[in-house]
Amino acid sequence: MEIRKVGVVGAGTMGSGIAQAFAVAGYDVVMQDIKDEFVQRGLTTIRKSLERVASKGKMSADDVAAALGRIRPSVTLDPLADCDLVVEAALENVDLKTQLFRKLDGICKDGAILASNTSSISLTRIAAATTRPTHVVGMHFFNPVPLMKLVEVIRALQTDDEVIRAVEEVSRKIGKTPHVVKDSYGFVVNRVLIPMINEGINCLYEGLAQPEDIDDTMKLGANHPMGPLALADLIGLDIVLNVMETLYQGFEDPKYRPSPLLKQMVDAGYLGRKTGRGFFRYDQA
Ligand code: 3HC
Repeated sequence: MEIRKVGVVGAGTMGSGIAQAFAVAGYDVVMQDIKDEFVQRGLTTIRKSLERVASKGKMSADDVAAALGRIRPSVTLDPLADCDLVVEAALENVDLKTQLFRKLDGICKDGAILASNTSSISLTRIAAATTRPTHVVGMHFFNPVPLMKLVEVIRALQTDDEVIRAVEEVSRKIGKTPHVVKDSYGFVVNRVLIPMINEGINCLYEGLAQPEDIDDTMKLGANHPMGPLALADLIGLDIVLNVMETLYQGFEDPKYRPSPLLKQMVDAGYLGRKTGRGFFRYDQA
């Protein structure tokens, strides 16, 4: 199973990061989103990220231009027809994802692998929505994609071994380290990481300390590169809540109860960096 051309559905934070990783590694990429302004914003994010790498002397201006030139923007799914691998990074909504996978299944060529970057939705369920469940797999990337080395490769109940091997290989080719994980709520990273962040939010909710102090204690006391509240702001509070709800409903275990403060923050629209305000303030949305 050779992968040459890659499609990415969704040009947001994760989708643009994923498109960037493939384009830099020499793959032809179609980056699709539903509106031209979303695709253009994704391209701008990629250009800025590559220019940052180039400004450190880690990439030449020619290589930046070549990587950008390998990304074909699209507002329809049709150009994904001849892709060998499609990575979906759209919104975290089960109905939307199953509908999208049904569409991709109809459009993409036989043998193409359909991957989802879902942070917690059941891959087994997504796979079951298609006529090619053996070729559906999870490729879970981490934010910020250009810097984070892991790809959690999620094996749905139906996924073929050959598909797992192909996805592990392509992950290595784009400079990432794959780890294969069975399909389960939150997989491994989010099952461990997001409840920890939720507890950080509960510490704030219960008035144990100020946000800066909570984050500093975890940086200094546990050697984390950033504190749980700053990390929640980076991930997006809506995503954090989404993962907590998936764990809570999936395992039916009260230990995964989302923090009331997390729910309030999401209700208020304080979603973190992307809205300019979360537990901390940011200059721009
Ligand atoms: N593109 C390219 N290069 C970038 C970049 C980008 N977007 N952002 C930063 N860089 C470069 C910088 O220029 C810098 O280069 P240099 O070393 O040559 O100077 C280097 O990367 C480090 O940048 P910073 O100094 O800004 O970054 P830090 O050293 O402070 O690290 C961090 C930033 C990697 C974000 C670190 O704080 C970290 O690891 N935080 C935790 C992130 C994490 O846990 N992510 C997982 C979230 S969970 C998830 O995504 C799953 C989802 O399903 C919820």
